[in-house]
Amino acid sequence: MRNIVILVGSMRKGGNTDLLARRFAEGAAEHNHVGIISAADCRVSPCIGCNTCFTREDHACFNHDDMDMIYEKLRRADVLVIASPVYFYGISAELKAIIDRLHTPMRSSFAIRKTALLLVGAASLPNLFDPILLQYQMILDFFHLQDCGKVLVRGVKDRGDIIGHPALDEAYRLGLSIE
Ligand SMILES: Cc1cc2nc3c(=O)[nH]c(=O)nc-3n(C[C@H](O)[C@H](O)[C@H](O)COP(=O)(O)O)c2cc1C
Repeated sequence: MRNIVILVGSMRKGGNTDLLARRFAEGAAEHNHVGIISAADCRVSPCIGCNTCFTREDHACFNHDDMDMIYEKLRRADVLVIASPVYFYGISAELKAIIDRLHTPMRSSFAIRKTALLLVGAASLPNLFDPILLQYQMILDFFHLQDCGKVLVRGVKDRGDIIGHPALDEAYRLGLSIE
């Protein structure tokens, strides 16, 4: 049994990313412990690049905001799932702020070795996810992480557009495959 944490980057609660993440969680919960952290529920300041976390005990950040709760959950995680809407061909700014604050603990104190990626976007462009996929792969290479799988959903714009989309079953099956 693995401890899986899903970071949901959408600020639109109950939106397409949320629904996709929840379906993944239903599959994953068959064999694992699953927690969901929604960026919409968190107040996280950006990393200011002071680098004091390099030398502080536990590699803790000087800034005590909702990252304290996120660090605590991720410290016990084996698998990290990134779920985001496409915003200007990237992930959401709120999710990026959380990920930036993981830089030092990810390298020094977390046990996370596997990740998965769930993305939604409004456009139908074949290359819609390319910028995020490149960044994701480079992060995996840098931190020596293994990808468990991805679900990429094009053409979903308004809240609930994803309902009935086959990607929800794909997300369930991907979650189920993680043991
Ligand atoms: C600020 C902003 C930027 C966006 N940029 C893109 C984009 O570059 N490409 C795209 O296909 N969709 C873009 N979208 C559309 C969202 O990705 C789409 O509506 C998605 O379904 C939202 O997911 P949610 O319901 O989980 O919030 C953007 C939406 C917002 C609010």
